[in-house]
Amino acid sequence: MIPFRDNIPSRSFPFITVSLITANVFVFFYELSLGSRSFERFIMHYGVVPTTVLAWPQSHIPFTAVALPFFTSMFLHGGWLHLIGNMWYLWIFGDNVEDRLGHFNYLLFYLLCGLGAGIVHTVLNSQTSVPSVGASGAIAGVLGAYVVSFPFARVLTLVPIFMFLQVIEIPAVLLLIFWFLMQFLYGTAALATTTANAGGVAWWAHVGGFVIGIILVGLFPGKDRARYGYSRYEKIVRITADDPRWEFPDAKFRDFNEKIILPGFVDTHVHLPQFAMMGVGEGELLTWLNTYTYPEEARFADPAYAEEISTTFFDELVANGTTTAAIYCSIHEPATDIAFIAARAKGVRAFIGKVMMDRNSPPGLMEDTERSIHDSVRLFEKWDNTDGGRLRYVFTPRFAASCSISLMHRVGQIARETGAFVQSHLAENVNEVRWIRDLFPDKPSYAGVYDDAGLLGARTIMAHCIHLSAEEINLLAKREVKIAFCPYSNQTLRSGTMPYRKLQDAGLMISLGTDIAGGPSLSMFEQMREAIRPTAMTPTEALYLATLAGARSLGISDHIGNFAAGKDADFIVVDVKPRRKAEEALSTLCLESDKKCVVEVYVRGNLMYF
Ligand code: GUN
Ligand code: FE
Repeated sequence: MIPFRDNIPSRSFPFITVSLITANVFVFFYELSLGSRSFERFIMHYGVVPTTVLAWPQSHIPFTAVALPFFTSMFLHGGWLHLIGNMWYLWIFGDNVEDRLGHFNYLLFYLLCGLGAGIVHTVLNSQTSVPSVGASGAIAGVLGAYVVSFPFARVLTLVPIFMFLQVIEIPAVLLLIFWFLMQFLYGTAALATTTANAGGVAWWAHVGGFVIGIILVGLFPGKDRARYGYSRYEKIVRITADDPRWEFPDAKFRDFNEKIILPGFVDTHVHLPQFAMMGVGEGELLTWLNTYTYPEEARFADPAYAEEISTTFFDELVANGTTTAAIYCSIHEPATDIAFIAARAKGVRAFIGKVMMDRNSPPGLMEDTERSIHDSVRLFEKWDNTDGGRLRYVFTPRFAASCSISLMHRVGQIARETGAFVQSHLAENVNEVRWIRDLFPDKPSYAGVYDDAGLLGARTIMAHCIHLSAEEINLLAKREVKIAFCPYSNQTLRSGTMPYRKLQDAGLMISLGTDIAGGPSLSMFEQMREAIRPTAMTPTEALYLATLAGARSLGISDHIGNFAAGKDADFIVVDVKPRRKAEEALSTLCLESDKKCVVEVYVRGNLMYF
């Protein structure tokens, strides 16, 4: 197992970690330059030899000669593997502990852990005359501090699974156990070269260092805990006009001055695999799908491409101020897995589904019905309600034109039995509606097709809903279906204008979706602007659609959507021209803002973008 990186970025340049690594490497090169006899003497002199230490003070060795090795031994290594293994772990985990403690305290912490580990080793190996060297004791302390500071951290790791090497995310805790086991090997290899009675593995130095790290990190004042404490600072306590600092003396205080703080946006309709083709294409829906969209989605058969786009997608989503989204993936099960992993790493709330299409689709995207159901159910079982309930699975039959009746029936049945979410497209384009009428001549309407299959319910999100009859609107309202209004996409694909007031008057819950790449922007600011244009809704209403209405549509308004006490601290800081009145500020937000105005984004109290 080889770790690559963890999912917690450094907040400041980890210059102590870098300096420690540099020092260790320099000393190692110096060791290499020595002949084998002088190398042995060097190690005896600067390594910790328990018998020598314990013979003091009777042995008349000066105190400094006994004490010094406890520090110098931390910078010595017995071999390449020993050095590289240690430094690699320090590089991956040290930066975050350095962030948490502050640079100076981190250095002090590191040295104390190394010292403590050396003492533990000496006491428990009192008969050993083998010198002990290596940074592992101090690094064990760093790992101990890491585990208690970032208990939910995950590490991207190269793991051999049967005969294949796979890069997967594993809990940092698991990797740590592996590190302990590896120490046996490194330690043995390290000392076998210097002395005959090798096997002086500093096992207890590692355990000691680790425990000392856990204890010490709690004693040091935390520099920046508010940014990390997933459990302690993730909720909104309350919104107040008073200065709350006296009440929370150790909380970090930020003055955003005239900037505006808004709830994180909720995007209720977005296609992840269309991210790379945002702004590309022309023509109306069906031409656009065949010419541009399907070929791009077919590329998600390649997991490496899926990983690249998924990671960028979630970075960009958050950079735009969106902290919750209902997402369509491609038909590919591995790519959908990857999307879930990327969402979890980013910490956002995400409702994600593998698109299902078993007819009228190009060869590379046409699924077998059974396979489509099987893969979707597997993903549902694997991911629904994971990451503390923040990740949900959504069954995603693409639209009635690309799904057989039997597929839709099966999905309807599963949704009824499990209470799972469903999302699809409905009545977006006149040619599409005509096509549906041809494909399903015995069904009363487009919405009627879905209703027959049992796909309409309170946990169903239908996108677009432009060309609907009065009967269809009533049917959707009766079934409590949620509507994703995608005004920018409707404009770009020339699909028409959603009858916003009519749907609203029918009692339907409507929220906003970017529908990239039908829509050319991931920004919910731009969605609000495009929503106001054809409907003449107020900016306040547009903001509601982009936040709380989305939360209500997804059934999570007790967790997000506004700043009510106890909700997740998902919020964004926006820099727009200061206005005198709230209404003026709101219209500026809707009509004059975009991604560039988003200066900071917090997900559950953690700064995720700045
Ligand atoms: N209808 C079926 N698939 C799609 C899609 O990918 N985008 C949009 N806008 N409409 C669709
Ligand atoms: Fe769409």
